[in-house]
Amino acid sequence: MNLPTTMKALIQKHEGYSRVPDGSTLESLEPYVEEATLDLPPVTGRQVLVKVGLASINPSDVMFIKGLYGQPRVKGRPAGFEGVGEVVAAGEDAYARSLIGRRVAFATGTTNWGTWAEYAISEAPGCIPIEQGVRDEDAAALIVNPLTALAMFDIVKEEGEKAFVLTAAASQLCKLIMNVAREEGFRPIAIVRRDDQIPILEEAGAAHVLNEKAADFPARLKEVVKAEQPRILLDAVTGPLAAKIFATMGRGARWIIYGRLDDTQTPIPEPGQLIFMQKRIEGFWLTDWMRRAGAERRAGVITEAQKRFRDGRWSTDVTAIVPLADAIARVPGELAKPNGKVFIAP
Ligand SMILES: NC(=O)c1ccc[n+]([C@@H]2O[C@H](COP(=O)([O-])OP(=O)(O)OC[C@H]3O[C@@H](n4cnc5c(N)ncnc54)[C@H](OP(=O)(O)O)[C@@H]3O)[C@@H](O)[C@H]2O)c1
Repeated sequence: MNLPTTMKALIQKHEGYSRVPDGSTLESLEPYVEEATLDLPPVTGRQVLVKVGLASINPSDVMFIKGLYGQPRVKGRPAGFEGVGEVVAAGEDAYARSLIGRRVAFATGTTNWGTWAEYAISEAPGCIPIEQGVRDEDAAALIVNPLTALAMFDIVKEEGEKAFVLTAAASQLCKLIMNVAREEGFRPIAIVRRDDQIPILEEAGAAHVLNEKAADFPARLKEVVKAEQPRILLDAVTGPLAAKIFATMGRGARWIIYGRLDDTQTPIPEPGQLIFMQKRIEGFWLTDWMRRAGAERRAGVITEAQKRFRDGRWSTDVTAIVPLADAIARVPGELAKPNGKVFIAP
C-alpha cells in the first residue's frame, strides 16, 4: 500500500499530569493541542497503523489533554483514545498483519499515538474488525462507552435489585445502559439537570426521571428511593448531588463512581452509614475492568456491543462531525451542545 510520508494531527502541548483541578467542560482546545504535520510513525510487533476515518471525543479525552486522566500526556503526540478506520500497515506479528485492509474500531490505549490524526497507532488486540451494517459513527464510539455500559450493567445484575440510580443520565453511556436495562426488566432511576431530557430518557428506558435542579428534587428522590429500593448508584457526576443521592439510599447501597463531571468537592454527609448500614463507595474504570475480566467475558461484551449497533437497538447520537482542520475552532462549541457525540474527521 502506498502511504504518504507525513500526516496532519492535533498534537499535545503538554507533558505528564496537571496539578490544577478542572472539570470536563472544554472552553478552548488551544491551551492543550495544536495542529501539526508529523512523519508517519513506524509500527512494530503487534502494533497496527490505522488510517483514521472518524475519531470520537469523549469526556475522558478532554480530561486527558488537560492532564487529569489516569495516564500521562506525551508532548508532541496526537491526542484521542478511540476511533474507526482502515488498517494500512502492521508490525511483524501475524495477527496484526492479518488486519491489514480491515475496517476496525480501535483504541489507542498507551501507544501514545492518538486518533485525532490522519493516522493512529493501536495494538492489534485493541482493534475490533467491524462487520458490514455498522455505521462509522457507531464504530468510532464502539469501545469506551458501549463496553463500559455492558460491564457496569453486569454489576447491577449481580447485585440483583431491579432498580438502580444513574446520574448524568442523558449521557450516551447511560442511554446505552438504559436500553439494555429495559430489555432485561430492570428499572433505571435517571437523574438529569434539564427538563427537556425527561421525555427522551423515558423513551430510552428509564422507570423514573428526576431533574436535580427542580425544587422538589429531594422529596421526589426520597419517594422514588423508598418505593424502588435501589442498591446501586452508577455515578459520573460526584460532588454534592451524588452525595445527597447516596445518603438517601438505603442499607447496603453501593456508590460506584466512574466519572467526575462536577469538579467541586464531594462530601460524605453521613459517614456513619458506611459503618452501620454496610454502604460502600467504589470506583469503576474500563481499563482496569479489561485487565481483570476473563478473555471470554471481554470477547462477549465486544460481540454484544457490535450486534446491538448492527441490529439498531443501539445508535450513537451525533451532534457534529468536524474536519480536523476546523477542530480547534469548532470542537468546544459543538461539545457544549447536549444530547450527542462530537467526532473529528481527519
Ligand atoms: N470510568 C470509565 O471507565 C468510563 C468509561 C466511559 C465513560 N466514562 C464516563 O462516563 C461519563 C459519560 O460519558 P459520555 O461519553 O456518555 O458523556 P456524554 O455523552 O458527553 O454526556 C455527558 C453528560 O454529562 C452531563 N454532565 C456534564 N457535566 C455535568 C455536571 N456538572 N452535572 C451533571 N451532569 C453533567 C451532561 O449533561 P447535559 O446533557 O445536561 O449537558 C451530559 O448529559 C463521563 O464522565 C465519562 O468520563 C467513564
